[in-house]
Formats: sequence, structure tokens, C-alpha cells
Amino acid sequence: MSTIDTAPPDSTALQIPLARNASIDGMDAYRALVTEANQDYEAFWARLAREHLAWHRPFTKVLNDTDAPFYHWFEDGELNASYNCLDRNLINGLAEKTAIVFESDDGKLTHVTYQALYHRVCRLANALRARGVKKGDRVVIYMPMSVEGVVAMLACARIGAPHSVVFGGFSAKSLHERIVDIGACAVITADEQVRAGKTLPLKTIVDEALAMGGAAGIKTVAIYRRTGGQIPWINERDKWLHELEAAQPDTCEPEWVGAEHPLFVLYTSGSTGTPKGVQHSTGGYLLWAAATMKWTFDIKPEDVFWCTADIGWITGHTYICYGPTAVGATQVIFEGVPTYPNAGRFWEMIQRHKVSIFYTAPTAIRSLIKSADANHAVHPDSFDLSSLRLLGTVGEPINPSAWTWYARHVGGGRCPVLDTFWQTETGGHMISPLPGVTPLVPGSCTLPMPGIDAAIVDETGEEVPNGNGGVLVIRKPWPSMIRTIWGNPERFRQGYFPGELGGKLYLAGDGAIRDRDTGYFTITGRIDDVLNVSGHRLGTMEIESALAAHPLVAEAAVVGRPDETAGEAIVAFVVLKAERPSGADAKRVADELRAWVGKEIGPIAKPKDIRFGDAMPKTRSGKVVRRLLRSVAKGEVISQDTSTVENPAVISQFADAA
Ligand code: PRX
Repeated sequence: MSTIDTAPPDSTALQIPLARNASIDGMDAYRALVTEANQDYEAFWARLAREHLAWHRPFTKVLNDTDAPFYHWFEDGELNASYNCLDRNLINGLAEKTAIVFESDDGKLTHVTYQALYHRVCRLANALRARGVKKGDRVVIYMPMSVEGVVAMLACARIGAPHSVVFGGFSAKSLHERIVDIGACAVITADEQVRAGKTLPLKTIVDEALAMGGAAGIKTVAIYRRTGGQIPWINERDKWLHELEAAQPDTCEPEWVGAEHPLFVLYTSGSTGTPKGVQHSTGGYLLWAAATMKWTFDIKPEDVFWCTADIGWITGHTYICYGPTAVGATQVIFEGVPTYPNAGRFWEMIQRHKVSIFYTAPTAIRSLIKSADANHAVHPDSFDLSSLRLLGTVGEPINPSAWTWYARHVGGGRCPVLDTFWQTETGGHMISPLPGVTPLVPGSCTLPMPGIDAAIVDETGEEVPNGNGGVLVIRKPWPSMIRTIWGNPERFRQGYFPGELGGKLYLAGDGAIRDRDTGYFTITGRIDDVLNVSGHRLGTMEIESALAAHPLVAEAAVVGRPDETAGEAIVAFVVLKAERPSGADAKRVADELRAWVGKEIGPIAKPKDIRFGDAMPKTRSGKVVRRLLRSVAKGEVISQDTSTVENPAVISQFADAA
């Protein structure tokens, strides 16, 4: 459970009006779409796929479920994602429209029109082809937030090479694992990335990762020159991105691919094992990226859209790279962090760029509330935010008080707040208010999108009555769903369509509850061993394995603890091979372990709190008693029955923080 605030919201005074003339205009229009989907599910999706996408070869089949749960959508249709996101806009007269306003960490602005974006993508696509990258080959992208990052993704899409973007905060080891698992033939990176005035070496990390072995297939490392800093260089393999682009023509015939052709693979954490490569299709994925831009964000030609996510996460894929461009929108892309040069940066940027739709994470809101409370100069009230008309949040449950602050101080009490629930696996929004439809309740993601058959069931797969909590499932396949786990179809089947629930329901991995009267959904947090730290998804097992790999460590267990700002904080319980450390010694070892996890996975996985004990609390059969550790992590008095624990004495040792 990562819901951290159950205090009653002070939102009763906030009567946020519905958006007028919205893409789905009113509850009746929403119900009509839901009915259309219920009456003829395939016809509903076929209509949307024809309306939202340009097909090179029209599809005749809609859903093929003979191989369920490996569903195929629009499978005999052919299209190209970059064509839909670029060429189509030029044909529609948007060549001179600004596609991207890029703001760098130090505030420099770059405007890129759709025409310019098209030429850059074509050049890089040609360059990749010239380097031997062809349809089906995989390309890893390890880039900062940049125009070049989006160009790289769309260039891969243009030649039918699935990309796998790795978040720039991941370590060399994490990058290496992903490069090897996906069997990449090229990496696109930058010399350095710049965040909050500091540079971080990306190319050096790529070299470190490639030197770990198993990556002989990498024939090209293309490097975007962001800072001009010193970097290692290997002739033949390493190429400057601008030189690759400059040598190529600025048009490029797209590779027409089948709708099921993998557009990308994005790694995410599960409760067990190594991160899994979530594979998405071209047609179904892009359809939902475009449709949700219209339905949830009600995107209009004059809007300025800003999603603050990183392209290394699914939100950056769907609502930076593909969604906004598929609908020909103007968007802001930001290189930096919300607190640099001060915590007013977001509000200042909304004011400067006249942002009308703003999409961010609850963690960012919570940390900015603190800063705003401490300093009025960085309070949203100190900026002109009148351009805003819609606000969104994603990634974690939003506590009602943060929701209300966001609605009141950022949205001025007039902008609907869209609490969008979805996942890497779902490709796009699953449950979300729609701005012209849904009366809002703080902390609730309200109702499923039309076409999405969400339900709450018990552990046997039976639907539970409203008001009773349970497990969130999606009952029917939908076009933008995960297709498989790269290289591990069995893990896909068992993990997402478990036999216990009958094998047909998609298991999201979240607990949820529906309101007794309205049927609104509220997500109560993950039901598995996945943590959500500042909206970053991490598996407890990954962190445990990283800790256990340290030479000093005998055993480690990791749990989450509710955290006021981050949503959840990582707490690690560690048994050393040597004696249990105490005092300054414990602090020194804890710091070393923290740095180690940063190196093994990335800084986002560093435990906030590390505790030491002589042994792990275990049952007689040797299972770590996690429920006890969760209570200890929260600082609760242990009132639970500990009679099944073999060594209850260690529990009190773990109660002391290092
Ligand atoms: O636990 C849910 C939480 O984030 C998980 C998905 O994480 P990830 O695949 O990294 O994708 C995040 C961005 C789409 C979910 O299983 N989550 C996401 N959105 C919400 C949420 N929890 C509550 N409310 C949300 N709006």
C-alpha cells in the first residue's frame, strides 16, 4: 500500500467545472462510447484505428485471439509509426507548426517545427540504415531529455528497428543487462547529460557497460554532442550523431511494418527476477497513444502540452515521443529538474511557454508544495498560470491533500485534474477522469476509459461488490497492451494471466477499490513486491540481489515504507558476514552499501534506511517474515504473533536505524 494520506480532503469548496467542447463532451457521450464498445468490441476498435491512424495497407482483421493471451490486433494492416507522427502532419499542413519547444537545464530555448523534426528523423534513419541497422534489429537509446532523444526514437521507428530506451539514471551494470538481453546492434547516447547545473557522463557509462562483455553485436555507438566534454572514443564504432546526420539526405522512405511489429521494448521491474522487457506493438500502441491524447488530454490545435516525464519511462514514450506528435501537437520538452535553479522552475516554465496542459507526477507536486510553503517566491501563486486548462498526474496514488493543492494553486480551481492510472504494460491510460465528462474526487482515478474493461476481483477471479477492496484486472484484451516479455513468453503468460484467476484476466498488480455509489476506482497500491519510489518502479528482489552481491553482505531483505514525499521509501534489512555493526561503524557500512546499490542499479534504488541484525527473522521453514519487517520499517510496535518466527529476538535489533 502506498497511499499515504487518508485525511479527508478540503476540496468540498473546490467546484472544478467540466471542460467545455471536450473531445468526449459529457457523460452521455462517454456512455455512448462504452455502449458502442460493449455491443461490438471489435467494430469499436476498428473504427478508432481507422480514425486515429494512417494505414499504408488497411487491416481486414481486428482481433486475433487464437493464441491468447498473445493477442494480435489489426495484424494484416501495415503502417509506420514515424510516418504517422511526422509525414502525416506535413500532409495536414502542419509543417511550420512548432512540434517541440526544448528548454535546456540552463534555460536556452530551441524551437523545432514539424518540418525540421521530419528532416532530422529522416537523416538519422538513413544514417542508421547506412550503418547496417535494418528492420527488426534492436537499438538501445541511453539519452538525456533532448530533441535528439525523440529524434532517435522516431528514427528507429522509421526503419522498423525496435528501440529500447534506458533511463539515463541507470548504472553501467543495468544498461549492460538490458543491452545483452535485447541483443542490440547499436547504442545512441550523448557525451554527457546536464541536470541541475551538473554534468553526468553518459558515453563513459556506455563504454563501461560494453566492456562488461556479451555485447559484441554493437557495431555503432552514435553520440549526441551535448556538452563537448572529454569522452573515450573507439574508432570505427563511435560516431558523432551530427556527423552521421549531416552525411545523409533529409528524406527517407519509411519501412512499412505489420501492425504487430514491435515498436519498442521497455524494461520495467517485476516482483521477481531481473527487469523484464515489455514489448509493445506498432499499430495498437500508437492507436491508444493518439486516442488518449484526444480523450484524456482533449488536445486541440492551439494547445501547448507539457509532460514532465523522462523518455526513459513509459510516460515519456507515450506522452512525449509518440502521443503528442501523432496528433500534431506543440509540446514542451525540459532537460532539467523541477528544483533548479529553484523550486519555481515548473511554474516559471508554464508561464513562459503558456502551457495549457500540464502532466506531472505526485512526487514532484509533493516536493514542490514543501518548497512553496517555505518560500513564497517559488509558490505557484507568484506566477501567471492562466494559460493552463488541464492538469494531469501519473505514476503513483495522489494523496487528496496534494491533489487539492495542485487543483487550487496550480489549476486556479478551474482546471480539471486528471489522475491517470496506467502502467508500462498498458501502453496508455486505463482509468482516468475525462475533462468534459467526469465529476472529480480527489485521490480517485474515477472511471475506465471507453473500451477498457476494468474490474476488481478477489483472489479466485470473482468480481467483488463495490465498496470491497480487491485486485485490479482488465477483462478484455485491448490494442495497446503488452504483447510479451522479450525472450520470455512464459513469464508473460504466468505473470499477467495467472492460472489462479482463470488465465484470462490481465492482472495489473495493483489493489483497488470501487466507491459504493459512484463506482469510481481508487488504486490502493501494488499487491506484489514492486516498490514505487518517487514514481519509479523498482522490484524489492532486484535491490536485495544487489545488496547480497556486496562482499560484506550475507543476506538482505528489502521492503517499502510510506514516505511523505517519495510515496514509498526503500528500507533494507541486512545481515553481514561479519558481526553486526553499531554506531559510527553501522553508518559507514550503510553508506558503503548505499553507494554500492547506486552502482549496481542506479541512484534511484539506493535504500533510504539500512538496518542491521544478527540474522533475518524467519519462519521455521526458512522464509523471511516480510510482514514483520514492514511493520518494523514503519516503526510500528510489534503486536503481531511472532510465535512462528524462529528467532524473534532479532526483530528488536532491526528496529534501530543505522
Ligand atoms: O502501482 C501503479 C502505479 O504505477 C504502476 C505502474 O508503474 P510504471 O509501469 O512505471 O508506469 C508508471 C506510469 C504509467 C502501477 O501499477 N500508478 C501509475 N499511475 C497511477 C498509479 N497508482 C495510482 N494512481 C495512478 N494514477
